[in-house]
This record gives sequence, structure tokens and C-alpha cells, in this order.
Amino acid sequence: MPYFLDDYDDIRSAIPSYLHGEQASLLMYIMSSQTESGLEGNLMEIGVATGHFLALMQRFRQPSEKVIRIDPFYIETTSRELVQENLLRTGASDGVEVRKSRSDAIPIETYQQDWSPIRFCHVDGSHQAKDVVNDISICDRSVSHGGLIVLDDFMNPGFPGVAEGFFRYFIENEREVSLVPVGFCRGKLLLSFREYSEWYMCSIPDDHIAPRRSALFMARWVVTEARDGRATC
Ligand SMILES: C[S@@+](CC[C@H](N)C(=O)[O-])C[C@H]1O[C@@H](n2cnc3c(N)ncnc32)[C@H](O)[C@@H]1O
Repeated sequence: MPYFLDDYDDIRSAIPSYLHGEQASLLMYIMSSQTESGLEGNLMEIGVATGHFLALMQRFRQPSEKVIRIDPFYIETTSRELVQENLLRTGASDGVEVRKSRSDAIPIETYQQDWSPIRFCHVDGSHQAKDVVNDISICDRSVSHGGLIVLDDFMNPGFPGVAEGFFRYFIENEREVSLVPVGFCRGKLLLSFREYSEWYMCSIPDDHIAPRRSALFMARWVVTEARDGRATC
């Protein structure tokens, strides 16, 4: 059941990106389903680069919601100004709050109090294990219970730190964590809180995730093992 904005091709040509069409379609579908089911909250992105995914989130932002973007803009070809320009070119720059910063340099209280509730977070910043642990922890503590966390480049052999950070977080925190992997699409791992996992799993169209299920099974297995205290690694 592909879901696309009518002008998605315009966004794609205005702001080039590695985002695959299947990923874009799935995430647009989820952001829209959240709103249709009455879930309200801000949308956040850790790691913005030139702002392609940010422009998509903007399209699914409701008037009462804001989009929070966090990036130290380490890459030379990216900047806060360029992102702003790109948002203007794609016609949606309202309601955006910018932090030129590493995600771990922002106090957790800012995420939990100033930006709460957060219904959707795209984690695509540093791909080093220790930073991924930190970003999952930020989301675990600040995303609202009906919300969704999307972890980029999970099981991508080019970025082993992402999977390492994910597994470390769950194994180190064992039972306290109630996040559950609910979907996987071309490297994007979707995590929700346990009480909403069925809702997400049932609402994610199968044709988006079927070809790459093995990584999802592996993530679920490690989470279960960690929670049951049976983890051996
Ligand atoms: C892969 S790019 C993001 C692409 C973007 N999410 C998209 O889909 O269009 C990764 C970005 O993460 C940023 N980054 C690196 N370390 C970070 C950190 N500790 N906190 C937040 N962002 C970080 C980099 O500056 C870079 O712009």
C-alpha cells in the first residue's frame, strides 16, 4: 500500500537524499497514520544534514506541533542556513526549532520538558556505538508512549556502530527498557513502546518490510534475551 505525497518528487529533486522510496513511503504512511489515530506530538530528527527527511516531517506536522532538528553540522556541505533554504524551497519552514548541537550536549530535561510530547523521532546522527546508545536512551526517555523511534542504518555493514549501539543499549538496560522493534525497512529499524507494538505491527503494510525481515527478527530476539536475563554476549 505505497503512500506518497503528491509532490514527493519535487522534494527529492530539491533536496537530494539517500532515502529509498520504500523507506520514504513507509515513514510517510506512519506519520500520517499517527495523526489519523489521534496521536499528537512533536516530530524530532537527530542528524539533519541538508534536510531531506526534515522536509518530509514538515509535511506531516500538524499546526499545533513542531519539528525539532538537532545537528552540529559537522559535514562541510551542510549548514543550518542551507537547511533553512531547502525548507523554504520545498515550501514548509514554519514550526521548526533548530539546535546546532550534538544530541548529547543538550540536557535530557530539554527533551523531556521543553519538547514533550514527541510522537516521532528519526535517529540519524552519529553512527558510532556510544552515540547510538545515547540517542536511543534520549528517545527512550523522551518519546511519548504512543510514539515511534526510527533508527537509521541498523545492520548496515558500512556502519557497524549502529547495530552495536542498539544491542548494547538493550543488553545493558535489560528489563527497564520497554521498547520493542516493530518493523524494518532497508536499514530503518522501527521501535515502539511495548503497549503500542501491536498497533504499529498491524498497521505497517507487509509489502514494505517482507524482504528484509531477518534483521527485525534478530533485533527482537536480542531484546527478548536481554529482558529475560538470558543474554550471553
Ligand atoms: C546521515 S546524515 C543525516 C541525513 C538526514 N537525516 C536525512 O535523511 O536527510 C548524518 C548527520 O548527523 C550529524 N551528526 C553527527 N554526529 C551527531 C551528533 N552527535 N548529534 C547530532 N547529529 C550528529 C552530522 O552532522 C550529519 O549531518
